Amino acid sequence: MNYPSWEVPHIGSGWVIGLIAIFHVMISHFAIGGGFYLAIAERKALREGRNDWLDILKVHSRFFMVLTAAFGTVSGVGIWFAIGLAAPEATSALIHNFVFGWAIEWTFFLIEVAAALLYYYTWGKVSNRLHLAIAWVYAGSAWLSLFVINGILTFMLTPGQGWLSVAGSGNEASMFWHAFFNPTFWPSLFLRTLICLSLAGLWALVTASRIDAYQMPHLKEEIVRWSAKWLIPAYVLLPLFFVWYLYMVPETQRGLLTLGISTIGQGVFTQVTRSALITIVTSGTIALIVYFLAYRSPRDFAFGHACSVLVIALAATGATEHTREMLRKPFVIGEYMYSNAIRVKEAEAFNRDGYLTKSPWVRDAERAGWQAALQADPGAVLPADAQAAKAAFGSLMFQGQCLACHTRDGYRSMKRLLKGRDRAAIASMIAMLHDRPEDSPYRAFMPPLVGVPAEIDALTDYLDALNRSDVSRGAPE
Ligand code: HEC
Repeated sequence: MNYPSWEVPHIGSGWVIGLIAIFHVMISHFAIGGGFYLAIAERKALREGRNDWLDILKVHSRFFMVLTAAFGTVSGVGIWFAIGLAAPEATSALIHNFVFGWAIEWTFFLIEVAAALLYYYTWGKVSNRLHLAIAWVYAGSAWLSLFVINGILTFMLTPGQGWLSVAGSGNEASMFWHAFFNPTFWPSLFLRTLICLSLAGLWALVTASRIDAYQMPHLKEEIVRWSAKWLIPAYVLLPLFFVWYLYMVPETQRGLLTLGISTIGQGVFTQVTRSALITIVTSGTIALIVYFLAYRSPRDFAFGHACSVLVIALAATGATEHTREMLRKPFVIGEYMYSNAIRVKEAEAFNRDGYLTKSPWVRDAERAGWQAALQADPGAVLPADAQAAKAAFGSLMFQGQCLACHTRDGYRSMKRLLKGRDRAAIASMIAMLHDRPEDSPYRAFMPPLVGVPAEIDALTDYLDALNRSDVSRGAPE
């Protein structure tokens, strides 16, 4: 518990990252796929001497540049802000392991943004050859930035045995490449590349839909159809790579998917399964709309159609990223660090010495009052200052160990989940979180609760008070 915890009312800090990330993924993947789209389309136009195509590409490249260079960049920084606030310990662990990885990623990113600007502003001002070369520099550097960030993202789900064997020893750097080219690196890279290509097609449909079908019926038809074809690789290959990806995910994590599937009948539909199903349904809808509305009748394909496909794609992106996040539960870095910033290796020491013993967030007076209370006879009524200290400890236990995934009364609300339980029921639920019997269903998605008995008792009091209170924020009084 080295860092303060960030409480975001109702939605929780995780969703702050999530909401920014969904938009960022939509834009950044388009930025990569769009680079290939521009390069390949320009090459085709130049070879066939199609100046009308080049005019459309110029319009598209302006839209592309504004969207990616402005929105993509800002949302990327937004993710950094959000992860630094919501999960500082995990962010710190990633920076320590991948500092050069990130430096390299930023270098590619810098080239990417510079090339995007250069590409747009040199239309008609440099030779065709050079202009096309800029497009390829753009596409290549954008894809390489994905290559690098993909190593870090997949590491979080599957750090791999090589890295785990040295984790915490100070020798992590010796396993940098193991960590980078971890088990899900390749399937995830292929999956994301396919998504980049299909998003390039979808966003190109926005530009294509605005071509005037009365003045340029053939041009509109050609460009709409050509753009729609960019979705084909994804629809053919995505299921294949997805199976490969799942195959590389550890059995325990994959279990989170089947946990939902096998309980559908009983109505306990886990969120992973729900999100995975949304991905499938939305992707299917996109395929149907693009085929029937764009490919079959390209001249009638309107701006509104293109926008509605994008909105569905946003839902698909959201659901897919959510599934990926959920698959990682209860870890933020697989087998190494739980979502609440507790390292797997630290759990034992916390159970022995206490979770809050060294916490910088406990006031000296609270610690002293609490110590005094612990010396008192069991069952004795605690003096007021010791009561206050116990309440503070309970609240800190909750903030440190539960708030990463739950809110008090919003998303995954503690009040809702505890509803109808008295103190004894809460205590037995808490005991199960702490002892983690083999058959505990919680093992699959919640980290072990750590701490000494007095701390666990304080948390139980806190939850009981929260459960009975009407307060939505702050410590229940
Ligand atoms: C890694 C994320 C994570 C952390 C950390 C976490 N939980 Fe959960 N918890 C979940 C998920 C996911 C569920 C299932 C939610 C649902 O079904 O809507 C859940 C469910 C629950 C439930 C309902 C279980 C049931 O039997 O009905 C309770 C109670 C609960 N959590 C308490 C806690 C407490 C107390 C803490 C802190 C000590 C905690 N959780 C920490 C992820 C987490």
